[in-house]
Amino acid sequence: MTEQVQLTITYEVVSSAQELTPQERQVLQLAQQATHNAYAPYSNFMVGAALLLADGSTHMGTNQENAAYPSGLCAERTLLFGVGSNYPQGKVEIMAVTARRRHEEHFVAACPCGACRQVIAEYQHRQQAPIRFLMQASDGKVVRFQSAGDLLPFTFTKDNL
Ligand code: THU
Repeated sequence: MTEQVQLTITYEVVSSAQELTPQERQVLQLAQQATHNAYAPYSNFMVGAALLLADGSTHMGTNQENAAYPSGLCAERTLLFGVGSNYPQGKVEIMAVTARRRHEEHFVAACPCGACRQVIAEYQHRQQAPIRFLMQASDGKVVRFQSAGDLLPFTFTKDNL
């Protein structure tokens, strides 16, 4: 017998950064600032990511491209691997990603790629506590996920090994 299953993904569309909590706003603003440090001479797509750890420290990352294209890395993974290397016990409470085109000031929608979602899921699984995730959307809106689990249903984790 075939059973049909419906999957529910929960997220909120926040109409402006003013409606975020002060901590969320701080992380989003850091991600926006970080876009200026992106190294994206090939795509011209400047991505900034930032996060807040439970110890109150904040950290930023950007996409880093390379003439050998696949050698480059997305902002989210640059950030998480750097934080994982320097704060292996760190618990990520809030993470944000934002983007803009090079030479333009306004922010555009930023949507983590599949590989980044897998890495974010790994960190959430590792810390056994949800990562609240903010995605820059168009027109100044922000999409908020209370758990990174909603970014990647059927996540492959170490429990699958
Ligand atoms: N990029 C990110 O940094 N994060 C994502 O989640 C999507 C894509 C970067 C990779 C590349 O440098 C540029 O955006 C265009 O794909």
